[in-house]
Amino acid sequence: MPLVAMQDLLQHAHRHRYAVGAFDLINLDFLSGILAAAEAQRAPVILSLAESHFAHFDFELLMAATLTAAQRTPVPCAIHLDHGKTLERAVEAIRWGANGVMVDASHLPFADNCRFTAEVVAMAHACGVCVEGELGYVPGSCGVDAERHPGPLQYTSVEEAQAFVAATGVDCLAVSIGTIHGRLHGLPQLDFERLAAIDRLLGLPLVIHGGTGLSEEQFRRLIELGVTKINYFTALDDGAGATMRAAVAEGDMACSQISSGVRRAVQSRCEQMIALWGGNGRAAEVLAQCRPWREVEHLVLFKPEASASAEAVAAQFAEGRRALAAIPGVRAVRVGHSVRDDARYSHAWLIRFAHEDVIDHYRDHPAHVAFADQRFRPLAPDRLTTDYRLD
Ligand code: 13P
Repeated sequence: MPLVAMQDLLQHAHRHRYAVGAFDLINLDFLSGILAAAEAQRAPVILSLAESHFAHFDFELLMAATLTAAQRTPVPCAIHLDHGKTLERAVEAIRWGANGVMVDASHLPFADNCRFTAEVVAMAHACGVCVEGELGYVPGSCGVDAERHPGPLQYTSVEEAQAFVAATGVDCLAVSIGTIHGRLHGLPQLDFERLAAIDRLLGLPLVIHGGTGLSEEQFRRLIELGVTKINYFTALDDGAGATMRAAVAEGDMACSQISSGVRRAVQSRCEQMIALWGGNGRAAEVLAQCRPWREVEHLVLFKPEASASAEAVAAQFAEGRRALAAIPGVRAVRVGHSVRDDARYSHAWLIRFAHEDVIDHYRDHPAHVAFADQRFRPLAPDRLTTDYRLD
C-alpha cells in the first residue's frame, strides 16, 4: 500500500531539497508510463488529474484505475486533484481516492482567493488530505501553445504569500514567478529573487506549474530555492503525440498499434525529469519516513427493533445511503444483510472512509447527526459500531 500522506511526501522533499514530479495523466498509458518511470528510478511520484482535462476522460473511472495502480506500485506516491474549480470537485476527488487537492482560485481577488481556499482547507484537512493553494497567476493552458494563454501573468507578492498561508493553512503553495502552462517558444524569464524571498519567509513546500520547457539550470535553481513539487504535462502530451504521428506515418495501423508507443514515450520523459529533479533513489527512505495513507472501514452492525417492518428498514437504508455518501471523506456506503438467519446482528452498514481523520469529522457532521438521531438509532437500539484501518 505505498500511497503515503502527501504532506509527508512534500515535507521529505523539502527537507532534502529535491522536487517530486506531479505528472498529469489523461489515460491508462500515461498512468502506467508515469509509474513505470517512478519504479525504474525508485522515486516518489504524484499522480495528478487536472480538471481542465476532464473532457478527455471519465474522472471517476480514471481515479479508480489510478487508485488501484497506486496501491500496487512499490514506490511511494500520492493522488492529486490538479486545478479543481469547486469545493464540490475537491469532495468528489477525495471520494474517489485523492489524498491531495488543489482548488485553483488564483484568478480571484486576494480576499476571495483566501476565503475560498480556506474553505477547501477546512474540508480537506478534516479528511487528512493535503491542500495546495495558488497565489499570483500562472497563465497558459496545458497541452497548447503558451501564447494562447487566457490572461496576463501575475507575479506572487511576497507579503501576500505570507498572509495567504496564515489565512488559509495550505500545506504547499503554488507560486507565479514567470512560468507559463503549455508549449513554450524560448525560455521564460524566471524571478528567482522573488522565489528566494518567498522561500525564506514561508519555509513551506513550494510548487511550480508550467514545468514544460524550462532549462536544466532553471530547474536546479528552482529546487535550490524551495520548489518541491513540479507540475508537468505538455511535454508528455507532445511526446505521446509525436510517437503516434510517427506510427501513423508508417501506414495502415490499427488503434492499438498507433498508441502502442505512448507508454514508453511517457516513461522515458518522466524518467529524465525525475533524475533531473533529484527524486531518483529516494523511494525507500520516503516509505520509511512518511505515514502510509490507509482507508478505514466504519462498521455498524445492528438488529432492527422488533416492531420495525422490512419496509421501514429499507427506507432508512435508502435515506442513509444518500445522506451519508455526501459527507466529505466518505468513499462509499454499502449496506448488507447477514447470510445467517440466527445472526446476533442481522443488518450492517459498511462505510468506507478515505482516512482515519474522517472518523471524528463524520461523527460530528450535521448530516450524520440528523440521520443517526432521527432515523437510525430509534430503529436500531441493539447495535455495535467499530472502525478498522485497512491494511
Ligand atoms: P505544463 O503543461 O506546462 O508542463 O504545465 C503543467 C501544469 O502546470 C499542470 O498543472
